[in-house]
Amino acid sequence: MVNKKFNSEEEKLTNQQGHMVTDNQNTRTVGDRGPMTLENYDFLEKISHFDREKIPERIVHARGTGAHGYFQSYGTVNGEPISKYTRAKVFTETEKQTPVFVRFSSVVHGKHSPETLRDPRGFAIKFYTEDGNWDLVGNNLKIFFIRDPLKFPDMIHAFRPDPVTNIQDLERMFDFVSQSPEAMHMITFVYSPWGIPATYRHMQGSGVHTYKWVNHEGTSVLVKYHWEPVQGIKNLTQGEADKIQGKNFNHATQDLYEAIEKGDYPEWELYVQIMEDNEHPELDYDPLDPTKLWYKEEAPWHKVGKMVLNKNPENFHAEVEQAAFGTGVLVDGLDFSDDKLLQGRTYSYSDTQRYRVGPNYLQLPINRPLKNIATNQSGGQMDYRQDYGDQNDPHVDYEPSYISGLKESENPGREHQPYVEGHLQREPIPRTNNFGQAGETYRRLNEWERKDLIHNLVSALSDCRKGIQDKMIEMFYQCDQDYGKRVEDGLKMAMNKMKSQEDKMDQAVDQAEEMGHVSDP
Ligand code: HEM
Repeated sequence: MVNKKFNSEEEKLTNQQGHMVTDNQNTRTVGDRGPMTLENYDFLEKISHFDREKIPERIVHARGTGAHGYFQSYGTVNGEPISKYTRAKVFTETEKQTPVFVRFSSVVHGKHSPETLRDPRGFAIKFYTEDGNWDLVGNNLKIFFIRDPLKFPDMIHAFRPDPVTNIQDLERMFDFVSQSPEAMHMITFVYSPWGIPATYRHMQGSGVHTYKWVNHEGTSVLVKYHWEPVQGIKNLTQGEADKIQGKNFNHATQDLYEAIEKGDYPEWELYVQIMEDNEHPELDYDPLDPTKLWYKEEAPWHKVGKMVLNKNPENFHAEVEQAAFGTGVLVDGLDFSDDKLLQGRTYSYSDTQRYRVGPNYLQLPINRPLKNIATNQSGGQMDYRQDYGDQNDPHVDYEPSYISGLKESENPGREHQPYVEGHLQREPIPRTNNFGQAGETYRRLNEWERKDLIHNLVSALSDCRKGIQDKMIEMFYQCDQDYGKRVEDGLKMAMNKMKSQEDKMDQAVDQAEEMGHVSDP
């Protein structure tokens, strides 16, 4: 896209101080063959800025793309007004379109890695609501590998390339998984075609965690969010993904960008599942456990709104690279649950963003709310504001104050005040049930999906040592007998095939040696 402003006759190249640039081809040197001199401000500024053009990539989800659009609520849940459950205006005010920015991503590999890799996909939405920003930082899949945030850095290390060879080694991944039975459910999804969505437009999204909705009376319910693509869902088998990757490693970014450019705007409908806010002892799993699905039979999906993406970013760095989402970013009427993983994440996001983008990352246009900011928080590197809000007295940057300054808001409803008690301790949750839903998911897949799952698992596990293979097979059996047997049989065949290929190779070398045909170049 050519920006007219920069093409016009009046607009001429300057440096960042506004000085005109009269020669952008030759540095200033002593004589025409050099040397250069240190007062060469134009050159030094240009090259120093270039040296700093990139910010650290995200520690996870480095590869991604984004788009702008809007969300509109339908205002009801299963025929009842949504205000019965939440007072969040983004849901209760149906005539309004709330602007959104969405970033899609893959997880494990770097910023330019292929978009065909087997990996969950990130689906992060920033809603610029009239009450400030709400971020729903989810994935395409509805569950996660682990349930305790203490394990996240180890999990990511195991999934990433080997720190010595820099080669991704699936043995490291399955080593971790074989010792983390809670990951069996997620592995079942990720190694099936659900692990390679065809494009970002054709994938679902999910908040994964259990959150809470709070109404005017301060009463809460447990809620899960799901996005359903109006374009339909498409996943790839490994073979299909390999073919695409051979030709294009940006296919998902390209697909989204081109669809929006030609006016074919992708849409998702938002569904929620709701449960009463209690421990639900009747279930064989904990409703706050992010490794578990809430089955539709237990908690039906209710359509509550739709999202349309209708504008591409104009500047990838400004809007996509510097976008900063976080699970702590909630508005009035939305709340956290006690899911430990959710609570661990909530610290991690703004922590990394202060490092990755800078302490004033919330002042950037992509991150700041559309509503007016009136805060006594100021200073820090690159704080460019001079005016901290219309009603702020610049002399009184504290609160409370008799003199003047910013005042607290009235609470728009009764505060939700959950009661908690217990010993401080290190314990897993009581209802881990690591294998039940993994087996059920296996049985609910179509046969072609199961075939692809077994094929992908066998191929990945073939490169693992026997101890890891045996542990994984034992756990697949615990999920489902047929699941265990098919992986076990598949692995036996694959290992025999590998053995006979190795034997053939040895024989060929022996024969060649006997015939004196081994060359010694
Ligand atoms: C990105 C931490 C689990 C979805 C990130 C980032 C960090 C992080 C540090 C980089 C953020 C940035 O640089 O702006 C964690 C931790 C987790 C966890 C500590 C568990 C304890 C999850 C889960 C999901 C998820 C369960 C899905 C529900 C995402 C997404 C992004 C992301 C979508 C990319 C956001 C973007 O597009 O900028 N995570 N994460 N993460 N995470 Fe997590």
